[in-house]
Amino acid sequence: MDSILVTGNGPLNGQIPIAGAKNACLTLMPATLLSEEPLTLTNAPRLSDIKTMTALLQSLGAEVSSLQDGQVLAMSSHDLTSHTADYEIVRKMRASNLVLGPLLARFGEAIVSLPGGCAIGARPMDLHVEGLEALGAEIELEDGYLHARAPGGLKGAVHEMRFASVGATENIVMAATLAKGTTVLKNAAREPEIVDLVECLRKMGAQISGEGTSTIEIQGVDRLHGATHQVVTDRIELGTYMLAPAICGGEVELLGGRMSLVDSFAEKLEAAGVSVSETSKGLKVARKNGRVRSVDVVTEPFPGFPTDLQAQMMALMCTAEGTSVLEERIFENRFMHAPELVRMGANIEVHGGTATVTGVEQLKGAPVMATDLRASVSLILAGLAAEGETTVSRVYHLDRGYEHVVRKLEGVGAKIERIKGQ
Ligand code: EPZ
Repeated sequence: MDSILVTGNGPLNGQIPIAGAKNACLTLMPATLLSEEPLTLTNAPRLSDIKTMTALLQSLGAEVSSLQDGQVLAMSSHDLTSHTADYEIVRKMRASNLVLGPLLARFGEAIVSLPGGCAIGARPMDLHVEGLEALGAEIELEDGYLHARAPGGLKGAVHEMRFASVGATENIVMAATLAKGTTVLKNAAREPEIVDLVECLRKMGAQISGEGTSTIEIQGVDRLHGATHQVVTDRIELGTYMLAPAICGGEVELLGGRMSLVDSFAEKLEAAGVSVSETSKGLKVARKNGRVRSVDVVTEPFPGFPTDLQAQMMALMCTAEGTSVLEERIFENRFMHAPELVRMGANIEVHGGTATVTGVEQLKGAPVMATDLRASVSLILAGLAAEGETTVSRVYHLDRGYEHVVRKLEGVGAKIERIKGQ
């Protein structure tokens, strides 16, 4: 297994290009199942999760061609050979469950393995099931697989979700595009990735309104046609690299960044003493003089503070002046980066869903282990600011969500290299 070696090297300066959003691409790709005509995605990120979704769609009989070094995905699901998402694929990536709604809507049948738990939590699918049953689906759990059927097709309905789940919103919206009649989805998730999905579905002929608000209305249509869609900028990669100059000092411009993607996050950075400003090419981030100040964080569904930036923010708070309380309200076990940061000299106390971080003057490099995708990059951020060398092991987690990390950070002056595993 490869590892990443980081050596603290002072302030960072320059530009970092931000890629297309992993979590938008992972819901846009299954949308190809809704139409027999081709769907082409541009600005796709080059990530292992995208390769996993490609393999899943191909296992169903869809054609997926990765062009222009992976930045273009040309897909077609004219003839499928299977409606089953196999456990071997789903267990590696929960987002595989996003084929459930599209398969059900177009073919009246879907057999999707339950993902099983992952490092950050149990990750159930009850909200997906409730929403699709509201549209008339019959769903049974057998041998760890959801067997979903809609023999007479799906019917529009008014449905309020108990929690604004991102994935459940995506599955229900995609299914509703081909249901008979009108669907009103209440307490829908508002993430930019959902707005991006709806914009793509609309290009395919779907009739949808309200995306980005808590109530999304879908008028079912008989069929959807092909389209070409550019994947929205990745707000989590954007936020992650905004933290690089914040934790090291210096000034970095994030190309393709937009304030509207990271409003609440940028507000927190400003409160901590980091300046964030829009430029003609993206966002410019610079730490004002001296150490950043501690701020408190509560993770919430969009537009609140993103749970996917909690681990990275904790790394910054480890070097801040004062004490910061971070409350993780979305997942039940998302502080596994804390003990690794403590190995680097951080002062963190975790009690249940709350981590209290008392900032220290200087972190010290140490060998640490990545436990999940976002934890892996928070350790790299800490290593950038630490004195001495930090080796982050198990970087396969990193490859799921961050393309060319070494190249992007080297480009702004970081001392970082990837060490090939035995
Ligand atoms: C999406 O996961 C993202 N993944 C996650 O990003 C992100 O952390 C999460 O949304 C929250 O923003 C993709 O988009 C591929 P949820 P998702 O359904 O859809 C519970 C990353 O690092 N829940 O909004 O799975 C669930 O257990 C990943 O890129 C139910 O209880 O998130 C969790 O506690 C990690 N029942 C909470 O809701 C359900 O049926 C949020 O889950 C569904 C979810």
